[in-house]
This record gives sequence, structure tokens and C-alpha cells, in this order.
Amino acid sequence: MSSEALASPATWAPRTPAVQTKLPSVGTTIFTVMSALATEHKAINLGQGFPDFGCDPKLVQAVADAMSAGHNQYPPMQGVAPLREAVSAKIEALYGRRYDPAGEVTITAGATQAILTAVLAVVRPGDEVIVLEPCYDSYVPNIELAGGVVVPVPLTPRTFRPDFDRIAAAITPRTRALVINSPHNPSGTVWSRQDMLRLQELLAPTDILLISDEVYEHMVFDGQPHESAARYPGLAARAFIVSSFGKTYHVTGWKVAYVAAPPALTAEFRKVHQFNVFTVNTPVQHGLAAYMADPKPYLELPAFYQRKRDLFRQGLAGSRLKLLPSEGTYFQCVDISDVSDLPESEFCQWLTREIGVAAIPLSAFYGNGFDQRVVRFCFAKKDETLQTALERLAKL
Ligand SMILES: Cc1ncc(COP(=O)(O)O)c(C=O)c1O
Repeated sequence: MSSEALASPATWAPRTPAVQTKLPSVGTTIFTVMSALATEHKAINLGQGFPDFGCDPKLVQAVADAMSAGHNQYPPMQGVAPLREAVSAKIEALYGRRYDPAGEVTITAGATQAILTAVLAVVRPGDEVIVLEPCYDSYVPNIELAGGVVVPVPLTPRTFRPDFDRIAAAITPRTRALVINSPHNPSGTVWSRQDMLRLQELLAPTDILLISDEVYEHMVFDGQPHESAARYPGLAARAFIVSSFGKTYHVTGWKVAYVAAPPALTAEFRKVHQFNVFTVNTPVQHGLAAYMADPKPYLELPAFYQRKRDLFRQGLAGSRLKLLPSEGTYFQCVDISDVSDLPESEFCQWLTREIGVAAIPLSAFYGNGFDQRVVRFCFAKKDETLQTALERLAKL
């Protein structure tokens, strides 16, 4: 065949081959839907979880300094040494376990990537992975992409405490991993020492790995400690511990996080990390490393967000929205049953359109859309944003 014939539209037409989706149940997320609706109706967006205030200018300066100093080429695959050392020192100071920066700490492009990479590294087709619902929306598609089988176990409705009998009942010889998240998005609950001890005991006779999503580790209120899996030798020995600089330093758009895990787990993690992300933004890593020399910003974070939590709760106290506890994170959940008969999702859309405040339905965090008449607000906002939202919500 001549090259003209090959190129001729008379003999073939451009065609995109059909693709069988790997994620049939994934569509547009509720976060995108609610944010678009909030923009359309000029509503205050207390839906998606990100601050509307800036980060510390010193952090921006530290990154600018790193760029000026020439830290602009590929860094080491596992992350720059000063940042891995700073992370290791922080974990040791706070939780008493030493992670070797060389072989046990890896810098990632956000916690979302860290969790996906951990799942891809250890979950084989047919392996079961237990998730505790409601849960962050990336866990389930991550497990599905790895060919794993998602085993959802509900947290106790409305209190969101772990139900260890149900977790124990979900364990089978095929269980490869369990994903936990404390402080918990969306509920704002925090696991206690007792919870962690029970988990440690439950997993001890098994080969189940733990993925411990601790991105809100520095947002625990009322003087309570963060019970990192790093504090519990029986858990740490089997855990990928994930935290996110985006949450801690008010820079969610920078997408930099880390994973701490024992050497054997880190080795497998890095095999996958090397070939999907390879390296993470160099100047941001150096900037974060320099900024971490001062622990004050993360040590003061609980008080910073507790004040916003209290402001938001006080403002809602007079409304018919019933406040659930918010022990950590920057989320406040409320029971809507005295205000509306609408399902959570429709209520959130109504609230955005008619009241001008966007929230997220908790049903979005359950595979089966379980509706318990609870919605989530994010209070990581300037005081004036919260005040305006509260004035609007006071009508309820
Ligand atoms: C529980 C939880 N895990 C992980 C993430 C993702 O963090 P990152 O922005 O670092 O990917 C979030 C962000 O909202 C989260 O709430």
C-alpha cells in the first residue's frame, strides 16, 4: 500500500478504540459537584476541605530560597535527605519511634499518591482490604486498581467509633491490609489509646498490613494526644504511616507528603514510587526541611484549629443543626434531622442554593450511599468567612 493510501481519509477514519473501564463505579465526585454548585450560587464553600487563608510567609520564603540556591533539578527518588531527616526527627520526638531516614521514610506527591502507591505495592489481585466507612474517597478506587477486593466495615453510625467485633468478623485468610484514618475525615473523631491497643491485639496473630492515614495528625483538640500507629510497636512493624504537609502547613496545593514504614515495606513502596512518580518537587522539599527546624507551627496547630472549631460550634449552637463531636481534623459534622426531611445529598444542594453555604453529605463516603442525616462542614476558613456562613446558617 502506498503512503498516500495509508494517509487517505477515504480508506480509514480516525477512531478512538473502546476502553473497558477499570473503575466502573467512579464518576464525578461529590466534592466537584458541590464546589461547582457553590461557585454557581456564590455560596460559601464549607464543602471541600482546604483553607481559604494563606500559609506562613516564612515557608514561601524558604521555598524561594531553595530555588535561588539552585535546588531545581531532580532530587533523590526517596526524597531529599534533609526532609527525610526532619520527618524522622519529628516522629521520634512526638511518638517515640525512630524511623531511619535512609530506609524507612519516603517523600511523596501528597498523601493520595502515598496511599495509592502503598496499595499498589502490597495488594495483589483477589486480596481483601478492609476499609472503615465512612472513608476518604480514594481508598476504594485504589484497592480496585490493584485488583483487590474492598471489604467495607462500617464505623458505628453517628458516633463513628471503631467496632472491633465487626472488624474481627471481616478478617479472612485473604485479608491483606486494613486502612485506618485518625483523626478521621469526615467525622472528626479521634482514635484513643484503647482503640489502638485493641487494634494491635487484633492484628498481632495475623499477617495483615496496616495503612494508617494520619494526615490530620496535628489537629487533635482538647489536650488529647494523637495516637499515631508509630507509638505502638506491634502496629508500626506492619504499617505504612502517611502524613501530609499540605494539611499541616496550609498548603494543600503543594501536594507533598511522606510515608514512614519498616525497611521491607519501604523497599516495596519505593519500587512502585520509582516508576509512577519517581521524584517530588525539589525546592518545596528543601523549603519544608528548613521550615521544619522550628516545631512551633505544628505544635501550635491544635490550638489554632480548636479556636476555629469553637467559634463555628458556638455560632451553630442556636440553630436546629445538632452538633456532633469534633475531636480533631478541620471538620464539623451536624445532624440535619430537625431541619429537613431531605436526603443528605439533596439537603446539601438545597443548602448551597437557598442558604448560600456548601456542605458535603456523609453518604458520599459510603459505598452504598448510607444516609444517616449527617453532613460535614469544613472550618479551615478565615474567621470572617466562618462568621458570614454562620449568619446564613442561623436561619435554619
Ligand atoms: C483522610 C485524607 N487522606 C488523604 C488526603 C489527601 O491528602 P493530600 O492532599 O496530601 O493528597 C486527604 C485530603 O483531603 C484526607 O482527608
